[in-house]
Amino acid sequence: MEKIGRTSVSLETREAFQNNRRLQIGARAFDILEVLIQARGKIVTKHEIMSHAWPNLIVEESNIHVHLSALRKQLGDDGRAIQTVPRRGYRLVPLDDEAIVHRGKKSAMLPTSPSIEFEPLPVCYTPLIGRENEIGEIAHALQDTPVVTLLGPGGAGKTHLAIEAARSMRANGRVDVCFLSLAPVLRREQVLNAAAEAFGIEPFDEQLLLPKLLDAVADRRILLVLDNCEHVLEEAARLTERLVQASANLRVLSTSREALRSRNETLLWVAPLLVPGLDATHEEILACPSVEAFLAFAGSWTSDLTNEPENVDTIASVCRRLDGLPLALELAAARARVFGLRQLACEVADDPFRTLTGGRRTAPARQRTLLGMLDWSYQLLGELERDVLHRLAAISGHFHLGDAQTVAAVDRVSKADVTEAIAGLVSKCLVIRTPGREKDDYSLLGTTREYALRRLDRLVKNAESSLERIRHRDRSAEGRSTARASRSGSRADRVVPDLKSTQNPHGAW
Ligand SMILES: Nc1ncnc2c1ncn2[C@@H]1O[C@H](COP(=O)(O)OP(=O)(O)OP(=O)(O)O)[C@@H](O)[C@H]1O
Ligand SMILES: [Mg+2]
Repeated sequence: MEKIGRTSVSLETREAFQNNRRLQIGARAFDILEVLIQARGKIVTKHEIMSHAWPNLIVEESNIHVHLSALRKQLGDDGRAIQTVPRRGYRLVPLDDEAIVHRGKKSAMLPTSPSIEFEPLPVCYTPLIGRENEIGEIAHALQDTPVVTLLGPGGAGKTHLAIEAARSMRANGRVDVCFLSLAPVLRREQVLNAAAEAFGIEPFDEQLLLPKLLDAVADRRILLVLDNCEHVLEEAARLTERLVQASANLRVLSTSREALRSRNETLLWVAPLLVPGLDATHEEILACPSVEAFLAFAGSWTSDLTNEPENVDTIASVCRRLDGLPLALELAAARARVFGLRQLACEVADDPFRTLTGGRRTAPARQRTLLGMLDWSYQLLGELERDVLHRLAAISGHFHLGDAQTVAAVDRVSKADVTEAIAGLVSKCLVIRTPGREKDDYSLLGTTREYALRRLDRLVKNAESSLERIRHRDRSAEGRSTARASRSGSRADRVVPDLKSTQNPHGAW
């Protein structure tokens, strides 16, 4: 007889008993139980279950979910021994008696939720640099509030910081960590499914996903890392609120280029890494986190790089030019490895967007190029925000709201529009607000400003080439019919394309 908690199972007679009562387990469900018992605690993949329970047949995965659910129901509390290992399969784990008794008391009210082994945290290839205090701050903030969002511009290092904070909290606080990247979830309605999958909940009944998810988090100390929420903010906020309501022990650490604006959310700003000042000494430059990160990204190639004083200044200028953004520095280091530091510095000074294109093949598309990094933010902007961002790029350095209105409130854009657009751009981390004693200060990161200028340039070029096409068409028409040409008159002037209507929201450059 095999034992699973209070359940005795005979593989020979294919029967299972609890308190001398024979459980009603169907043939397929028993096949699943059998293969799990035979695996002796190892993970059994869905494919293995299928070939054991349905040999020589091709069946849909949902069949496993149906029979597994029936099996867990029959096993009652002992069903928790069947652990779902998200995206990998299932296994049998020993049951903790205390947990059974505890849950046994509650089982009249609560359905039994299966135990889960979450996927391991993603690997970070470089140690976390320049964030000595942040991990403590995050852990501290999560003690007081259930939801903390790491907010910052693209590539500032929010995800890396969240991973290390979660790792540290898991090591210190006996908390289970569930890491869910929302970046690949492109359709809003998929957010709940993605969360359910991360918690090992089978998608066989959409209606039950949320209740099952809420049940899975109830009473458990879980830190849910919701990574990259900016494109599905509403759904992420709704999910967060429901989960936090369902469990007082749950904490959510989200990362985003814009706040979730959910209830009880605390925002922690993730700034780019510090860059060396223009008058910094070599010693100061080498101690600067952005320089340290560049050297770490460049890896073994840099062993004697800093021996040459000239190189130290060059690295400092690259870090300043790239605003100390870790992602940009990582791309730059990869480029330097191929073309050398001096060439990189020239290219970055000239056109960082053309140069910084060689990201890790395994990185998401938004992180493979500097352009992709900014495109991801740009495509989430409204039309007015884009329009104002283009115009703000004319200002270099810091500015006040009044300056922005003077520059950007032209044509159909009013001062109130500019204020509203700036509020949106600040919340999306494309304009940086620095609170001042009398007035707030605003600025664009150098890379953002250059991106906006390029967008504008592109729009103007598009507009000019459209205008040229129209003129050409009119000239041809004139050639064909003088009579009609005289009627068309200054037609080209009347159809000067509207900048707004010529912009391509997702277009690649
Ligand atoms: N403090 C740091 N020390 C070392 N490497 C870092 C640091 N911050 C970020 N990185 C590295 O820089 C790259 C970009 O970081 P990350 O993905 O965390 O940025 P992000 O802010 O989450 O970007 P996005 O807005 O695109 O999601 C990653 O390869 C990451 O490992
Ligand atoms: Mg991220």
